[in-house]
Amino acid sequence: MSETFYITTAIDYVNGAPHLGHAYEKVITDVIARSRRSLGREVFFLTGLDEHGQKVQQAAAAEGRDPQAYCDDLAVAWKAMAARLDLTHDDFIRTTEERHRSTVQTLLAKLHREGRFTTGTYEGWYSYKEETFLTEKDRLPDGTFPAVYGDVTPLTERNYFFPLREHQEWLIQHLEDHPEFIQPDFRRNEVLGFLRSETLEDLCISRPKSRLSWGITLPFDTDYVTYVWFDALTNYISVPAARGDPGITGILGLPGIAGAPSLWPAVHVIGKDILKFHAVYWPIMLRVAGIPLPRQILAHGWWQKDGQKLSKSTGNVVDPMAVIDEWGVDAFRYYVTRELDLGADGNWTDAGFAARYQAELANGLGNLVNRSLKMLVSYRAGRVPRPSGDLQAEARAAVQATREAYDGFRLQGALQATWELVTRANKFVEETAPFKMAKDPAKAARLDEVLYALVETCRILAVMLWPVIPGTSARIYQQLGLETAPDRWVSTEWGGLAEGHAVREPQALFPRKDLAKP
Ligand code: ME8
Ligand code: MG
Repeated sequence: MSETFYITTAIDYVNGAPHLGHAYEKVITDVIARSRRSLGREVFFLTGLDEHGQKVQQAAAAEGRDPQAYCDDLAVAWKAMAARLDLTHDDFIRTTEERHRSTVQTLLAKLHREGRFTTGTYEGWYSYKEETFLTEKDRLPDGTFPAVYGDVTPLTERNYFFPLREHQEWLIQHLEDHPEFIQPDFRRNEVLGFLRSETLEDLCISRPKSRLSWGITLPFDTDYVTYVWFDALTNYISVPAARGDPGITGILGLPGIAGAPSLWPAVHVIGKDILKFHAVYWPIMLRVAGIPLPRQILAHGWWQKDGQKLSKSTGNVVDPMAVIDEWGVDAFRYYVTRELDLGADGNWTDAGFAARYQAELANGLGNLVNRSLKMLVSYRAGRVPRPSGDLQAEARAAVQATREAYDGFRLQGALQATWELVTRANKFVEETAPFKMAKDPAKAARLDEVLYALVETCRILAVMLWPVIPGTSARIYQQLGLETAPDRWVSTEWGGLAEGHAVREPQALFPRKDLAKP
């Protein structure tokens, strides 16, 4: 087992601009990556783009562009989104890169050499939209095919196939023996149900160039390109291979690199729609190649807006960049992480977003930090008093509960646990009424205790919140006059602020918005 915590997102099709669903997945993966780093783990976080296949070829053709030039242009926008979302990815793969192409071809050549593929003529129905062969079983009761498949046409074609059914038994066994392999549980049960009730069809892993040219050429038959999913899934090992991960290079017979990190196996964060590819096809590809299975597959839910599917054609979209322009990146990261438990579907409403911003960020966290610092500046010239113990037990409990939630990938639960402390500390201000104490010299010692508890709680909150709202955490640390970064969980220990330390004048973290406007 590698020491590095290797985590990946799905790689997005570059057939348009990024939307809420793409941004969501990247943010929650970043939150997990940051939480593990904060807890002292070595992390490798990979994201990227899926550039081959029919969808991309068609999108480029629709604009009269060469597919590579089309991808190159869009890749700039997608990389800009990753930066704008404050992602801490360690690499960004594009499947048109040589380092990826060569690994895909090496893998294909190995499996072909070892006799893992068959050839055959396929005769049936084909969905160009989803690049998939359909059978009679896929028909709806009225005889038509589901709308997701777009136009379905009859097709007769010679191709290469990857037989899967001989792998069904061990895969079922693996899922039964490793309940954590697919999370959440209800998704694992779906996959198990499917594997127990259906016989796996052979997977067609080639497409004739006469029909689709935008792909990676099969190393053993240059008339074909690789099926886009075989190509795309391999990204999770092509990056480790290119970086010399001995666990991959050894098996694929690729050159090693001295001192290269051991990355594989990964934790995959993906959407529920592509679970079958990751939980069935990908483990079988790996097992057949002799490569260990992924550590875990986390399947998240899907977002809608105002109860309707996100759709460019109907204009029912949320542009993450526009939201960030208006509200700031941390408000976006906070909202999507707080709104959904990992696995559940979500419904975006502008009103729901604004309500959380106002109640939880502006009036909750922002207000706490602002008034705690303001009072310290007004009543104690910004100097931290002697450490005291009010709120210490509550802080410890919140730190513990938040940490447990992060460990279990319960990101929503982590924020709920952290907000217990935000709420408690704001209540503590009301209960102790330091603004009254400040007028009574006899209460000076008690006021010191209260002020210490408040600013120290703000400091600890900054550390707890760093995985989700890193910019805000950094601003809290700056306002507290701290030079270090709030990126180490160990500094959630009570008593970090020393007596006499000088804080700065606070500035609003989440400016209140006028919500009265329609
Ligand atoms: O499937 N809500 O790419 P993709 C939440 N290239 N997540 C959503 C979403 C929504 N409304 N819409 C899409 C692909 N996603 C392949 C992946 S991985 C080897 C290859 C998620 O651009 C979706 O579930 O269609 C997937 O995880 C990711 O965005 C990319 O989707
Ligand atoms: Mg999709």
